[in-house]
Amino acid sequence: MFASGSGSNAENLVEYFNKTVEKEVALILTNNPKAYVLERAKRLGVATEVFDREDLKKGKVLEALREHDIDFIVLAGFLWLMPAEIVRAYKGRIVNIHPALLPKYGGKGMYGLHVHRAVIENGEKESGITIHYVNEEYDKGDIIFQARCPVLPDDTPESLQERVHALEYEHYPRVVDKVIESLSEPRR
Ligand code: GAR
Repeated sequence: MFASGSGSNAENLVEYFNKTVEKEVALILTNNPKAYVLERAKRLGVATEVFDREDLKKGKVLEALREHDIDFIVLAGFLWLMPAEIVRAYKGRIVNIHPALLPKYGGKGMYGLHVHRAVIENGEKESGITIHYVNEEYDKGDIIFQARCPVLPDDTPESLQERVHALEYEHYPRVVDKVIESLSEPRR
């Protein structure tokens, strides 16, 4: 799993997969040495790797994934673009969650509160979550699942974020589980 920030989705996913028999979150990777997700991982007893742009470019991250026998990748608030090398190595095995209804409000720089602020500023009546496969462009991979929620007239970016987070916690683990189940063979 890759995360860059707080990691509340990461924690929710770890807890969900702790209750399953054949699947587990084996490694949490982050580009941000100060990310709160690292504290959560420590508390949950999940191994971590911190990497920088060089590591990502030079194949060190892919190496770490192989060392830990990772066969599926979940992005949970990860803000960097996945390099082509990893996308190729894990074809059909990387998913992301986006806190809006793609294809609207996606792309570079569209993350967290920036997304919710834009949704409110544009007077949208609804928002939601999108779970999609990851390709080499930000937020452009095939959509797997969407869920919707209203945008209320007095919403702030923070209150909308809270409503969207609730949808994420409800659906992301179950949808990831289903995608993994639909894969016929383990990765070689
Ligand atoms: C989540 O809302 C996720 O959808 C979003 O970042 C948040 C991370 O929260 N991802 C993006 O915006 C990706 N473009 P968390 O760290 O508490 O799970």
